[in-house]
Amino acid sequence: MFDINFIRQQFPALNGEWIFLDNAGGSQILGSIVERISDYLIHTNVQLGASYGISQQSTQRVEEARQLMATFINAKSPDEVIFGSSTTQLLANLALAMAASFKPGDEVIVTNCDHESNIGPWTRLCALGVIVKTWKVHPDTLRLELDDLENLLTEKTRIVAFTAASNVLGTLNPIAAITQLAHRYGAQVCVDAVAYAPHRALNVQAWDVDYCVFSAYKVYGPHCSVLYGKREHLLNLTNLNHYFIANDDIPYKLQPGNSNFELSWGAAGILEYCETLAMRFFDEPAKTTYGQVTQAFEAIASHEEQLAHRLLTFLVSQPKVRVIGIESADQSQRVPTISFAVQNKHASEVVQAIDPFKIGIRSGDFYARKLIESLGLASHGGIIRVSMVHYNSLEEIDQLIKHLDSGLLG
Ligand SMILES: Cc1ncc(COP(=O)(O)O)c(C=O)c1O
Repeated sequence: MFDINFIRQQFPALNGEWIFLDNAGGSQILGSIVERISDYLIHTNVQLGASYGISQQSTQRVEEARQLMATFINAKSPDEVIFGSSTTQLLANLALAMAASFKPGDEVIVTNCDHESNIGPWTRLCALGVIVKTWKVHPDTLRLELDDLENLLTEKTRIVAFTAASNVLGTLNPIAAITQLAHRYGAQVCVDAVAYAPHRALNVQAWDVDYCVFSAYKVYGPHCSVLYGKREHLLNLTNLNHYFIANDDIPYKLQPGNSNFELSWGAAGILEYCETLAMRFFDEPAKTTYGQVTQAFEAIASHEEQLAHRLLTFLVSQPKVRVIGIESADQSQRVPTISFAVQNKHASEVVQAIDPFKIGIRSGDFYARKLIESLGLASHGGIIRVSMVHYNSLEEIDQLIKHLDSGLLG
């Protein structure tokens, strides 16, 4: 049912000779999204909110972008969607807008496997007397265990900040179960879905999360990001904008200055792409748009599972390779972001040997520095990461394997 040729035709950059396997760093962009951005800039690039016709159109487009994004993540209303330039910036702003509500002795829980963007802003609250606790992955399984979280939670916990999927391990975390547990203690959750959103449908209502964030440039779109917050929480946040912006003026209280209107309009084109995939790959496309989003990601997940299986089977067979994360490709356990280390080899050595073949992979800590340090891998240059998405083909993975299998991992 999955038509890889059709998929690849939707991404103009895939016509070239490069094999893109650093997608967790940033994916290639859909041609349809490029067209949307260009169309916005050519036809509706005026300031929002005036009474003349084009300004009304630009205002409508930006509002529609929020509606489309709300549908994409299954939010109750577009009033729960904030656009920003990056996840890092949105999370820093969120913590700033919550700061006034913290008192000394309040507690926050962060993990040691998140990207720093969902650790640092919460850790910095310690300047207000907030106590920061770290929920660590189990050293054997490299998973976040619910029992360990329960040992950290108290009635003083205000926020549990965790990742939906690790950008290094690829492991999927049980978002709804974590959220339910945090809520039992009266804490809110802030979920980083950046490494998750390219691979699975987000469902903020089913998860019941309080805040969730992802970046469009990893979901086949441009460099902008989306923050979801439950409306009742957003209303309680401090206004980060000018004094005359009303406290219930969402999104503007949390979008100081003009945001990237053309990129917001462009990014929202992901919804149309999901509809196209559902129509093309399913005999009975779902009746609702969100249903089609879930179908599109079902198709994406099963193709990605095959890619992950091909690479993991090879890596596991290599005596000097240690896969950092789950060794199974099972789509209920992981996304196809695959990290590994090679005994007695600096990670960059392997990557640089692959570079001349026009295959983009990468090494480092990927800003999940605490995880890499806790694994004792910092002095080896971190890990080697091969991050695949649904537009990658099995042939591309075979090309990479061929080059890795030429004595490089020995
Ligand atoms: C899991 C995860 N969270 C957050 C970020 C930061 O995203 P941004 O560049 O939009 O700030 C990244 C970027 O690589 C990431 O992989």
